Amino acid sequence: MLEVAAFRGPTLIYHARALSSAAPRSISTGIYYKHGTDDDQVTKEEKDKGASWADVYNIKRQKYGIGSKPESAFNLASRTFVSQGSSIVKEALAGVGIFAKDYIPPEEKPPNCLGLTLDSEAVKDAERKREARAGEKVETNPASRALYDAGCYVLDELFVGRPIARFWFLETIARMPYFSYVSMLHLYESFGWWRDPQLRKVHNAEEYNELHHLLIMETLGGNDRWRDRFLGYHVAFGYYWAINALFLFSPRAAYEFMELLEAHAVDTYSTFYIENKERLLELPAPAVASSYYKGADLYLFDDFQISKRPSSRRPPVDNLYDVFKNICEDEAEHVKTMAACKNYSKVGKIVVSPHLSFDNDSEQVQNEKRARWLEWSEEINRACTAEEDF
Ligand SMILES: [Fe+2]
Ligand SMILES: [Fe+2]
Repeated sequence: MLEVAAFRGPTLIYHARALSSAAPRSISTGIYYKHGTDDDQVTKEEKDKGASWADVYNIKRQKYGIGSKPESAFNLASRTFVSQGSSIVKEALAGVGIFAKDYIPPEEKPPNCLGLTLDSEAVKDAERKREARAGEKVETNPASRALYDAGCYVLDELFVGRPIARFWFLETIARMPYFSYVSMLHLYESFGWWRDPQLRKVHNAEEYNELHHLLIMETLGGNDRWRDRFLGYHVAFGYYWAINALFLFSPRAAYEFMELLEAHAVDTYSTFYIENKERLLELPAPAVASSYYKGADLYLFDDFQISKRPSSRRPPVDNLYDVFKNICEDEAEHVKTMAACKNYSKVGKIVVSPHLSFDNDSEQVQNEKRARWLEWSEEINRACTAEEDF
């Protein structure tokens, strides 16, 4: 039995519980939402405290950051500055042996207490092997490759022995290109240059998927350190604008760079879940992961996987191993989607939602649609004939 300390993270309130390898229970964010009715996610303590089923299961608005409603950027920014400032002071004081009342040593709280590792050399090895396999190397221009190699080197150096913080950082920046693509498509539409709502919808679904990867990492304490948050948010901000600029000149290059990063994410996550398999199997899945992968409405989950028939992928979420494997498989789907977007930009082969590209209608529905279409065309014909007669 491993005792995991409860702590109040910077963005999520996390109540990890005593974990049993024999009967994994829940790591509950306590403030995130959960679809469905998986009774196993509610602990006895929660019930004893008088939490109603609705409190625990139903949609609860997640508190993120300092705000509680949409308000002016100036208000939010100034309050965030104060809040983050207190984190800096607390971390600095802890460094010289002065601890705040609610201080919990890093080794006693997630992610450190989870005992997870990541061997950077093994990640590089996985990447080398993938790139040696026919058709799996992302071919890109030398500038993008150099930037990518430099980024990987920095990551290896910054997050030695801290895989969850590394994943949090990666997920923070990894969804920026999807915001950027949507912004650029809005711009193109606003100027009346070009419109493709289907493509925009696929990017939204991709971003929603990356958001959940990020939430999982936050639940596991990936954003616990002020330094990591500072770096993550600022790199993400710069990255968003850099991708915007790149997209303006070459959407193909913007998609290609993301394809490169998504392929790297597959290498990293696959190395991680193989390396930590035994430990991850002992740890329970966070509620946010269950709510996402086992939700009642998985339209957006299916929507970014353009090569798969909707509803064809419903992975298990029984423990943390499943969660990381699912994230890795999501990243592999992002690689395919980015490759398709690159081709769209290159040769015009359109990208559409799998809800449209796969024919999911039953024969009866197809017949009804056909009948409605015939009815409509006859009506048009009648109107045209009447006009000619007139
Ligand atoms: Fe991700
Ligand atoms: Fe991704």
